[in-house]
Amino acid sequence: MRKALRPRAGLMSPWLLASLLLIAAPAYCKTPAAPARAPAAQPAAAHPPGTAIASAHSLSTQAGLEIVRQGGNAFDAAIAVSSTLSVVEPISSGIGGGGFFLLHDAKTGRDVFLDARETAPAAATPAAYLDAKGELNRDRATNGPWSAGIPGLPAALVHLAQKYGKLPLKTSLAPAIRIAREGFEVYPRLEKGYGSRREVMERYRGTREVFLADGSPPKAGEILKQPDLARTLELLAAKGYDGFYRGDVGAKLLAAVKEEGGQWKPEELSGYKVVEREPLRLKYRGWDIVTAPPPSSGGVAMAEILQILEGWDISKLDPAHRTHIIAEAMRRAYRDRTIYLGDPDFVKMPLARLTSRDYAAGLRATIHPEKATPSDLLSGQPAPLEDDETTHFSIIDAQGNRVSATQTVNLLYGSGMVAPGTGVLLNNEMDDFALRPGTPNAFGVMGFAANAPEPGKRMLSSMTPSFLESKDKVIAVGAPGGSRIITQVMLAVLAYDAGLAPQQVAAQPRIHHQWMPDAISAEAGALDADTVAKLQAMGHKVNAGESTWGNLQTVMWDKAANTLSGGTDPRNPVGQADVLSSRP
Ligand code: GLY
Repeated sequence: MRKALRPRAGLMSPWLLASLLLIAAPAYCKTPAAPARAPAAQPAAAHPPGTAIASAHSLSTQAGLEIVRQGGNAFDAAIAVSSTLSVVEPISSGIGGGGFFLLHDAKTGRDVFLDARETAPAAATPAAYLDAKGELNRDRATNGPWSAGIPGLPAALVHLAQKYGKLPLKTSLAPAIRIAREGFEVYPRLEKGYGSRREVMERYRGTREVFLADGSPPKAGEILKQPDLARTLELLAAKGYDGFYRGDVGAKLLAAVKEEGGQWKPEELSGYKVVEREPLRLKYRGWDIVTAPPPSSGGVAMAEILQILEGWDISKLDPAHRTHIIAEAMRRAYRDRTIYLGDPDFVKMPLARLTSRDYAAGLRATIHPEKATPSDLLSGQPAPLEDDETTHFSIIDAQGNRVSATQTVNLLYGSGMVAPGTGVLLNNEMDDFALRPGTPNAFGVMGFAANAPEPGKRMLSSMTPSFLESKDKVIAVGAPGGSRIITQVMLAVLAYDAGLAPQQVAAQPRIHHQWMPDAISAEAGALDADTVAKLQAMGHKVNAGESTWGNLQTVMWDKAANTLSGGTDPRNPVGQADVLSSRP
């Protein structure tokens, strides 16, 4: 197979150049976080020289570092970062949503995948989402109480503090409580996102109380205060699990869902549990990759893609063939995602087969070196692509603990519904189920029986928080972007493998293929005109330069140089990667 495609001379896309020639990051890159340097390079340092955090907002990155200065470890910092993101990025995630926290505990050497995905209430049967004609009721699937699963994020924060942190929740939640009460400056993405969800959000009394508090929608530059959310976080800090899932907040959440016509049973809220799962592990060239198992589809899809790609030395392919091969690998992995994956507590999945090298070799053999495989040979139907939402943060601390966490309320501002008196914006994660099997969801990805809703079941996700480790590098990485999360993280693996620095990895232009719709999406600068023409001649539809996506956040410990550095996605101007040196 290695010989099937020979390297050819040709114009290189900036994407390929960035990956292969280690050029400086594009002009729109932010300054990379200053590395914390040891006085002299060590062959392989035992501990990082400080703490590195990358997140989608400078306030959340600084909240994490504030907690580290107070004696906290990466897990305490993760509570601070996560809860602060819930305050300053309601467009992407919140304590009314869920997430996945991939943890590495340096003391035990153990990797844990903390699953805080939302669960389906019993009333949310497939039939509940069909209209009179038997079609998917999109409004119900994406807006208001029926679109919301039982939130998981608050339980994750409590679990992290009790099992992995060094500090009480009262300390690690303090920055988020302060920022919720005192307010933060609205930035353009929040204002724009509100504009696109305004009609839905203003249906709900609780949402109007937060976002129309001064009579008009939030505008960039204004200060947004969330006193109810501050009080809810205080109750979580004081009472732990009961502060959210039971008592006053729990009662208000149940009442709000009922008032708006939804159905959550009290025991569904009070019985929510996080699950600790074994992460999925794979090897790619010299990298050990620890990543997300189901109910995320991310690890399985990434394993398929990378193991298919191992059949080529992709650095030696010309841009068109390299993109062709990557897109074909993506196409096949996304098809399997759609057909097979769901919540492991409810469905049996052929995981050993899907993640095996033999299976990847079989898929590789179906890739024509010069021709696109039409996706409809595998059945399906086209659907639109998605917006950006969700959020990711990455942390490595001075003990070597790591957190790679992706959290979400699903689409922009989730369900649009805030439960009055709580400041809690509920997710619309129910749309990640295959509510009507075979019908694409808001991300254009379909699902079948494995991902049909059932009481207590977790909806399939694309969130792919990951660790990469080589002989001398330790990396935490992840991204938001709905179905485009998996391909962003996979492209980050290729970029790190090509020797890029974290900021270059965060900045590199991206491509994506998800089987359905049958097209390669490419950010501006990812593919030049010649490459697009060659891909079209192979039978690919290419949507080049229509949009950008993602918000990748990554940190790296270079053990050989004993430096820490971070990369924050320049597509999001308010993100920040920063390093706190532990050396005098
Ligand atoms: N809601 C996006 C995801 O979980 O993949």
